[in-house]
Amino acid sequence: MTMTKTTDKPLHHQRMLVGISGGIAAYKGAELVRLLKQAGAEVRVVMTDAAKAFITPMTLQALSGHPVHDSLWDLQAEAAMGHIELAKWADHVIVAPATADILAKFAHGLADDLLSTLILATTASIWVAPAMNQQMWQAQATQANVMLLKQRGVHVIEPAEGEQACGDVGPGRLPEPAAIVAALTQRKPTTLFNGRHVVITAGPTQEALDPVRFITNHSSGKMGYALASAAQAMGARVTLISGPTALCAPAGVHCIRVDTAEAMLAACLQAMPCHVFIAAAAVADYRPAHKGTQKLPKQGQSWSLDLVPNPDILASICRLPQKPYCVGFAAQTEDLLEKAREKLNNKGADVIIANLVGPNLGFQVDENQVTLVKAHEVEALPMMSKIKLASVILEKIAKDAT
Ligand code: CTP
Repeated sequence: MTMTKTTDKPLHHQRMLVGISGGIAAYKGAELVRLLKQAGAEVRVVMTDAAKAFITPMTLQALSGHPVHDSLWDLQAEAAMGHIELAKWADHVIVAPATADILAKFAHGLADDLLSTLILATTASIWVAPAMNQQMWQAQATQANVMLLKQRGVHVIEPAEGEQACGDVGPGRLPEPAAIVAALTQRKPTTLFNGRHVVITAGPTQEALDPVRFITNHSSGKMGYALASAAQAMGARVTLISGPTALCAPAGVHCIRVDTAEAMLAACLQAMPCHVFIAAAAVADYRPAHKGTQKLPKQGQSWSLDLVPNPDILASICRLPQKPYCVGFAAQTEDLLEKAREKLNNKGADVIIANLVGPNLGFQVDENQVTLVKAHEVEALPMMSKIKLASVILEKIAKDAT
């Protein structure tokens, strides 16, 4: 028999609230609870009504060693440990399986059952392991909800691919309980950028022609926001200087919203000094020479715009006497490495993160494949989600910059 010392247990003394919602994978909740306890966690279980159609509260009570919580309206349970008390008790909440329905509730702040109420009421770290039919997982509504949750700092354990209970094949299977526990225990260190000031530009700029029209581009801001969120999670003090986007600022990040390239440069200079400057914004290279104070009338058959160059924000920061470690992006449609090297030299950056743009690449998508180009080193990274890429890029920057 092998004995495990208490100190070997990775979740020793961690209070883990396990939420189980109603999907066929709910039965894996039993194994999850068992493994969490084995890893040293104190476990309480919350089930939705739908989950009880797939696994009995009795099973989970026996495994967790505590009564299962399943109702907001159970006077006895509320007297023993009320829902707010339970929300405060937890260090971490892991919802597995998380159905499309419960993800939608979390994303939109609904609180019509015990589990969704607890999610609103807790300050614990929140983890969700979605599991559902592959089409439901890939539905735009589900993906938008998941993105919203990630932007708010919820940890999403991505579903596995394979054959599903309904016969479909694709992403949507609940990862094995052991993989969920591994994800919970292998949280990234939060000290990589401890106390460092990281300034990040993100999103497009808008250059006004008149009070109703402007020149802009397709940048969604996702990469810059993902970097801000990841840097914050690694202990940095983050200033995010963002052009107009539809994204919410990640929790704990100081976000300054601007519209033009000139306003973005002014905000960056004001945010200095910093240790690391990351220029992820898609800055308009030119702006109209004259901004009409009134809406400009039609100009006949053709219309020429007079444009003047915008300041180069990255190059300006690289020229500062107290230059931070400077990171730029290069979005190109061709000659990727050659153009990235040109930007590295012309702007004076320490690293250029180069990616190809085109249909389904770079802008407005959730995945990206990039190459890091430094003076004497080129490293191509595999295709991955922008959220994952943000952490990988920051880990690499941390090695050089801190
Ligand atoms: N950048 C910047 N200010 C600008 C233009 C670009 O800070 N006025 C930054 C971007 O945030 C990015 C890098 O410089 O990190 C490269 O941007 P990109 O627009 O790809 O390069 P350009 O220098 O504009 O060159 P080109 O448009 O020819 O690709």
